Amino acid sequence: MTILVTGGAGYIGSHTTILLIEAGYDVIIFDNFSNASKESIKRVEKIVGQNITLIEGDIRNKTDLEKVFENYSIDAVIHFAGLKAVGESVEKPLTYYDNNIYGTIVLCETMAKYNCKSIVFSSSATVYGDPHTTPIKEDFPLSATNPYGRSKLFIEEMLRDLHLSDNTWNIVLLRYFNPVGAHSSATIGEAPQGIPNNLMPFIAQTAVGKRACLSVFGDDYDTHDGTGVRDYIHVMDLADGHVKALNIIKKLSEVMTINLGTGVGYSVLDMVKAFEKASKKEVPYCIAPRRAGDIAKCFADPTYAKEILGWEAQKGLEQMCEDSWRWQSNNPNGYKEED
Ligand code: NAD
Ligand code: UD1
Repeated sequence: MTILVTGGAGYIGSHTTILLIEAGYDVIIFDNFSNASKESIKRVEKIVGQNITLIEGDIRNKTDLEKVFENYSIDAVIHFAGLKAVGESVEKPLTYYDNNIYGTIVLCETMAKYNCKSIVFSSSATVYGDPHTTPIKEDFPLSATNPYGRSKLFIEEMLRDLHLSDNTWNIVLLRYFNPVGAHSSATIGEAPQGIPNNLMPFIAQTAVGKRACLSVFGDDYDTHDGTGVRDYIHVMDLADGHVKALNIIKKLSEVMTINLGTGVGYSVLDMVKAFEKASKKEVPYCIAPRRAGDIAKCFADPTYAKEILGWEAQKGLEQMCEDSWRWQSNNPNGYKEED
């Protein structure tokens, strides 16, 4: 089976590509490199020991996409391509709606034209907004507080409408919790441009000496130590969820919406402690005001993923921190030679 992986040069896409190839799929990566480096693909090629077909193009460009579907017989698409920075989405909402929503429309139109109607979509736990309770189940109410989240919500709705209009589509919506960690080879990992917005890369860059101090955004939440609680999931576990989704995708009669999380919540200070232990480095921190839009607690009920996909996270916090640290300490500037 040949899988088109949009955004396959990025953080989650590159890790997923490894497992897809190891599972025997043929992979074609399609990426515009707006938030990725070609070096990530070179390193994936080394890990899997084979060349990977890479097509540079933009999902909003029909001609770029049609060329791919003309030249290859694609069985299914895993759709990672998208912009993901919450703050930037507030400043540039139209850029986010154009890239994420319009890009998905062009992708689906092209898929339909070439009769490829199986898609796994990268959604996010952000679609639950501020949940009334935890753990979060898939049928909880949905909401969004920023354009990034709204783009995910709209795309989910759009894909549900697409299925209503034509039930020969096979659609899986995977709602990721907080992906962290890196491949155990330490040759690929998360390489944010500029100052990281997310906790784990910020902690890792502080431990390696690139950042002086971590700001802990709020210590007065209703959690066990007052700091925000999240469901951190190893990126290789997340990648495995995609392979398992592909295994069932052709048999679906309904749109499947599935949480990919561990079911365990850790606070910011739990993460700092675990990272210090794994890295044997100090992570200096100070308490800062709450970040606008943040919620106290967010962790998954992953029961449905187990039931439907036979998937369950395997890697615990220690391994997440060890793998993040190995990647960060071996590649202090990510895929760049220097910053
Ligand atoms: P990433 O930025 O590392 O990867 C996204 C990739 O898509 C990049 O390689 C980028 O160059 C590419 N891309 C963006 N716009 C494109 C376009 N118009 N045409 C072609 N390629 C394009 O991000 P990631 O962390 O790997 O996330 C992958 C997906 O998962 C995204 O859709 C993201 O919103 C979603 N997601 C991520 C997280 C997270 O914490 N990382 C959480 C929930 C959901
Ligand atoms: C953020 C996004 C969410 C997105 C997810 C994955 C916001 C409000 N939410 O989620 O939409 O789907 O990333 O990309 O941006 N923290 C600190 N100091 C830091 C960074 C983070 O204390 O420097 C805290 C946060 O307050 C939070 C926790 O660490 O409690 C995790 O933060 P982060 O990694 O940014 O993820 P989310 O906020 O869960």
